[in-house]
Amino acid sequence: MKLLKTIAASVSITLASVTSVLAAPIEIKFSHVVAENTPKGKMATKFKELVEQRLSGKVVVKVFPNAQLFGDDKVLEAMLLGDVQLAAPALSKIKKYNKQVQVFDLPFLFDDMAAIDRFQQGPEGKKLLKSLEKRGLVGLGYLHNGFKQLSASSPLKVPGDAKGKKFRIMASDVLVEQFRAVSANPVKKPFAEVFTLLQTKAIDGQENTWSNMYSKKFYEVQPYITESNHGVLDYVVLSSKEFWLSLPADIRPTVEKALQEAIVYGNQVALAKDQEDKQAIIASKRSQVVTLTPEERQQWVDAMKPVWKKFEVELGKDLIQAAISANQGK
Ligand code: LMR
Repeated sequence: MKLLKTIAASVSITLASVTSVLAAPIEIKFSHVVAENTPKGKMATKFKELVEQRLSGKVVVKVFPNAQLFGDDKVLEAMLLGDVQLAAPALSKIKKYNKQVQVFDLPFLFDDMAAIDRFQQGPEGKKLLKSLEKRGLVGLGYLHNGFKQLSASSPLKVPGDAKGKKFRIMASDVLVEQFRAVSANPVKKPFAEVFTLLQTKAIDGQENTWSNMYSKKFYEVQPYITESNHGVLDYVVLSSKEFWLSLPADIRPTVEKALQEAIVYGNQVALAKDQEDKQAIIASKRSQVVTLTPEERQQWVDAMKPVWKKFEVELGKDLIQAAISANQGK
């Protein structure tokens, strides 16, 4: 009997060790739509490096750039189904989960990146992140890209130049109104389609950051880029609540720390790339950068700013006011 017990005990010890050796590492798929050489692309790679260094054998991170796995409209549905664990969509693409995030799309709202930081890290910004939990998503942090510029097939100096032109936009109703305010025609399209739409002249223009226009070669098919800095393109880093809370207690804090470090790094890349990629576009001579005089820029402000009023009820007056106040917190 004693012998039998000893054999049984040793078999179960052996099985336990085999199971732990064979235990598959946790897999985190990080899906995004931009190129690797961008703030988000580099942030994702940094996250992978940090996690795999610190949790070697326990967690693997697979990064899928360039909409290889999921495009704009599908990634969060896929996340809720458990097919992808991390994503960082532009704030302009998640109105389905909370309409108020469209506050970031209001034209000419923020003076600079520091104001955006103050708003995101302040109570209202934190509340917006938290609000996504009701929809099964965990907002793990904001990530910068930068200010948007307007590119087109003809020079855009004053709002009248945009009249009747077709512009691709991200899926935000504020952006629809922003272009209608200058009598242009906005069309919501996924990021992965923009280059071809521009190349085939199915659309006349689009708005994006220097980094996205450079890395996706929009400047090769858009002869003019107006340096308007009229709006912001930032991201929210998301996971599903189900996946995030399922991470073991000895693993989650390390993953979270790696993510926060990767975001800090991504934000540094965003600041640097904003300048570098603009210079690279200028140096390419494929696209002419149109600089606005203060008077010309003011015309765009005057034409687009009435959009704020239109969204006062939907976004909330207080929320808009908090964003405006972030400009004065210098
Ligand atoms: C876009 O669709 O233009 C951007 O949101 C792409 C991105 O992720 O930066």
